Amino acid sequence: MRVLGIETSCDETGVAIYEARRGLLAHRLYSQAAQHAEFGGVVPELASRDHLKRLAVLVNLALEDANLKKTDLSGIACTAGPGLIGALLAGLVFSGGLARALGVPLIGVHHMEAHLLAPLLEGDSPEFPYLALLVSGGHSLLVDVRGYGDYAVLGESLDDAAGEAFDKGAKLLGLGYPGGPEIARLAEKGEPGRFSLPVPMRGRKELNFSFSGLKTALLYMVRDLTAESALTGDDRASLALALETAIVESLVDRSTRALDATGYGSLVVAGGVGANRRLRLQLKDVCGNTGVSVYYPRVEFCTDNGAMIALTGCLRLAGGAPGPAAPDARPRWNINEVTPFSPA
Ligand code: KG4
Ligand code: ZN
Repeated sequence: MRVLGIETSCDETGVAIYEARRGLLAHRLYSQAAQHAEFGGVVPELASRDHLKRLAVLVNLALEDANLKKTDLSGIACTAGPGLIGALLAGLVFSGGLARALGVPLIGVHHMEAHLLAPLLEGDSPEFPYLALLVSGGHSLLVDVRGYGDYAVLGESLDDAAGEAFDKGAKLLGLGYPGGPEIARLAEKGEPGRFSLPVPMRGRKELNFSFSGLKTALLYMVRDLTAESALTGDDRASLALALETAIVESLVDRSTRALDATGYGSLVVAGGVGANRRLRLQLKDVCGNTGVSVYYPRVEFCTDNGAMIALTGCLRLAGGAPGPAAPDARPRWNINEVTPFSPA
């Protein structure tokens, strides 16, 4: 069984081929980040058009990499949601046409389920049940993973997602898009303790996140600092460090609370913010002290990619749960609405 995976939910065009027996055979990614950078965020219409422009080229390259022909594929998996409606439709229309032409099934994949299963790409994933911290540009979720497709959301963001907090903070500091890697890079040069921002939701019993207050706190801090003179490079670096510290500490606090509540001994961290080094180090540290094992996909499979979609599609196909033959684009789609399955 060999599945072509297609990811177009936001601003990355990801294409990959996953084989049940041999694992990942090829993966190609085109990031539109540079095109959106001048607007300080993703422009949906630009994103959809660009996906359509790149998909055929990337698919051909991936097939070449894997030394395969289109007719060697046994299924096409495509992100059906959540995401930007136009971007999702671009992927689904392309994938639907290809699947129909080849006479193979089209599997509509839930983007966050794919993030959650991404550690399997490393051949390294915990036994069920486990806890997953899914942190991306659009979502912050703590998920009780009871089995394949059997997910219960324990906590989510009440406002901005963790990645959004990085992106908006970066914008405030005059940095580029996407903001997470920019903040992380600059924070390396920051002076610890020079500025301090409140850690959102710290110590709260419920397992939700909230990041919009943090953004406002940073805004006020910048406003006070710039009342007299413009920010220096050192100011910016220390502000980036304060922001990164507050976001990471909030994520660590919420995750450890969820681990306590569930009693689970394994934590999977995925989604774009999962690429953050400070988050990885701190979780490793805290979990190491409590005997909890932490699993991450490699950094390139934390952010959006086609490999996680091909993998999820392959597992769903093997488990006899490919979903509807013509999946709809679902811009808003809760992860607990997917169907459970058991891959053969
Ligand atoms: O999962 P992803 O690639 O796309 C979505 O599904 O949203 O996540 C993108 C988010 C962006 O907000 C980006 O700023 C953030 O992940 N991100 C990071 C890092 N790399 C990407 N945030 C913090 N540190 C990073 N190293
Ligand atoms: Zn994502």
